[in-house]
Amino acid sequence: MSEWFETLDGLRERVWARLAMAALQSDVVTLATVSPESEPEARSVVLRDADPEAGTLAVYTDLESAKITSLRHHPRASFLIWDADLSLQIRAQCQVTILTGDVVAELWDDVPDYSRLSYGITPPPGQVIVESDAYQKAPDQAVFAVLSCMVDAFDIVHLGKPHRRARLMRAQSQPGEWVANWLAP
Ligand SMILES: Cc1cc2nc3c(=O)[nH]c(=O)nc-3n(C[C@H](O)[C@H](O)[C@H](O)COP(=O)(O)O)c2cc1C
Repeated sequence: MSEWFETLDGLRERVWARLAMAALQSDVVTLATVSPESEPEARSVVLRDADPEAGTLAVYTDLESAKITSLRHHPRASFLIWDADLSLQIRAQCQVTILTGDVVAELWDDVPDYSRLSYGITPPPGQVIVESDAYQKAPDQAVFAVLSCMVDAFDIVHLGKPHRRARLMRAQSQPGEWVANWLAP
C-alpha cells in the first residue's frame, strides 16, 4: 500500500480533497493575476468553492476591485496554497470567468449580513481617500462577483523524503481526465 504522495493518482486525489476542505473551512489562499500593464499582482482571498468533478475553484469579490479590471484584460489567474501539515504546495493555473447578477443571486442569498459588507464600498476599493476611515460600506448585490476559475494545470510539490514534484494538465480530449507527469523538483 503506497502513501498518497508516492503516486500521481494519489497526489491528484489529495490535492482536490485539500482544496475541497479549504473551501469548507473558508481558508485564505493567494490569488495572483496580471495587471493591464503586465505587472504581477497577488492578494489573499478566501477560497469559496472547489469542485473536483468540474475542476473549478471559486472566489467572491467586489466587481469594482482592481483584480476585475486585470481579469477583464487577461482572464488568467494562479492560486497558491501551502499546507505545512501535509508538506504540500499547490499551484493552480486557471481560466477565469467573472459571474455577476442573476446567476450569482442564490450565492448572494447565502452570504451572511456581516460578510455582505465586503461588497459595496464608497468610494470603490483602491481609491485614494483623505482619511483612513473616509469610506462607507453598504452591501450591494450589484457589485457582488464570483470568480469561477477553471483549473487547467496544477504544479504540486511535496516536501517529503525525497522531495516530489508533479504536473497535472487537464486532458483536452477527455473531459474530467488529467495528464500527469513527475517533474524534477
Ligand atoms: C485574510 C484576508 C482575506 C481576504 N479575502 C478576500 C476575498 O475573499 N475576496 C476579495 O476580493 N478580497 C479579499 N481580501 C482582500 C484582498 O486581499 C485585497 O486587498 C482586495 O481584494 C483588493 O485587491 P485588488 O486591488 O488586487 O483587487 C482578503 C484580505 C485578507 C487579508
